[in-house]
Amino acid sequence: MPKIAIVDKMHQDGINLLKNNTKFECEIIEDLSKKNLISKLPAFDGITLRRGKIDAEILAKCKKLKVISRHGVGFDNVDVKFLKKNNIKLLVTATTTSVSPAEHIMFMILNISKGIDFFDKAVRNGEFGSVMHTQHNTFELSYKKILIIGFGRIGRKLIKRCLGFEMKVYAYDPYVEKKVIESFGGIKVEDLNDGLKEADIISLSVPLTEETHNMITLDKMKMMKKSAIIINTSRGGIINEKDLDEALNKKIIHGAGLDVFEKEPPDNNNPLLKNKRVVLSPHAATFTQECLSKMSIETAQNIIDFFDENLNQSMIVKL
Ligand SMILES: NC(=O)c1ccc[n+]([C@@H]2O[C@H](COP(=O)([O-])OP(=O)(O)OC[C@H]3O[C@@H](n4cnc5c(N)ncnc54)[C@H](O)[C@@H]3O)[C@@H](O)[C@H]2O)c1
Repeated sequence: MPKIAIVDKMHQDGINLLKNNTKFECEIIEDLSKKNLISKLPAFDGITLRRGKIDAEILAKCKKLKVISRHGVGFDNVDVKFLKKNNIKLLVTATTTSVSPAEHIMFMILNISKGIDFFDKAVRNGEFGSVMHTQHNTFELSYKKILIIGFGRIGRKLIKRCLGFEMKVYAYDPYVEKKVIESFGGIKVEDLNDGLKEADIISLSVPLTEETHNMITLDKMKMMKKSAIIINTSRGGIINEKDLDEALNKKIIHGAGLDVFEKEPPDNNNPLLKNKRVVLSPHAATFTQECLSKMSIETAQNIIDFFDENLNQSMIVKL
């Protein structure tokens, strides 16, 4: 009977799906320290993985391991080179992890463009009247230009929401054909710098890779409009945090929204935590009741289907 490790708790709906399946033996592993993972994981044939880092040293001990089913679509917390070399399959929640992140990006764009935090505080502080006669940096989204960097599952959900707000949508993704972007109502940008110069809003939905690490540095931010805002809900390290703090403080760009950080949780002395020009959330783009339930079910179902030899091939990451 295959043994499945549920590494890091997920929504109960997915746990129940695995626990109620008599073909598997399951154990939830909540201690995500390397010491615990290296001692526990060698006993398992399959792993579902939410948080927790599974490096080559851990994997080398897992002689029975055939599959890792990621709770999510990013997989920078797994040593993929090792998986590829040893033919261990990597599965992702390809169908359930894009609506909530796309809505989260819209929430960050709206939060900044409408000055929500400022207005909320003003009303609570009894400044309702005075706020009416001040000049604000708030702006309409209608006819603004957004550059979506990474036109995958999330990018394609985001474009629909942006078009609903009458925005003009540009997309930069060297791996997606022009005609695909146009079929969604977008305009393909061939050169990232051209897109950065034009856009009022920039949103990142790319994986963290050697190519995307530090994709947005101070030099790139200097190309952007002074009124530009940038949103990163993909992975920390794609925007350089030190550079972002400087760009916001020197008013090189207007604002930012971050759901992800170079180090999670961020250190208390991370200057961005004190920067009023950035809106923050705790890697929470999928934290809706619907998304967490659906992701947990898909994570569990993927691993069940894998062992039943019934898996939809689109769930397997091509390594
Ligand atoms: N904050 C969260 O909770 C959360 C939730 C879901 C996904 N994510 C992150 O968002 C990322 C995107 O998710 P997705 O489901 O849209 O992934 P996806 O794989 O469907 O799309 C990613 C797109 O990025 C493109 N891309 C790759 N390298 C690029 C580059 N150098 N420049 C421009 N485009 C490039 C790819 O061609 C692809 O179209 C994930 O990799 C994950 O890290 C974060």
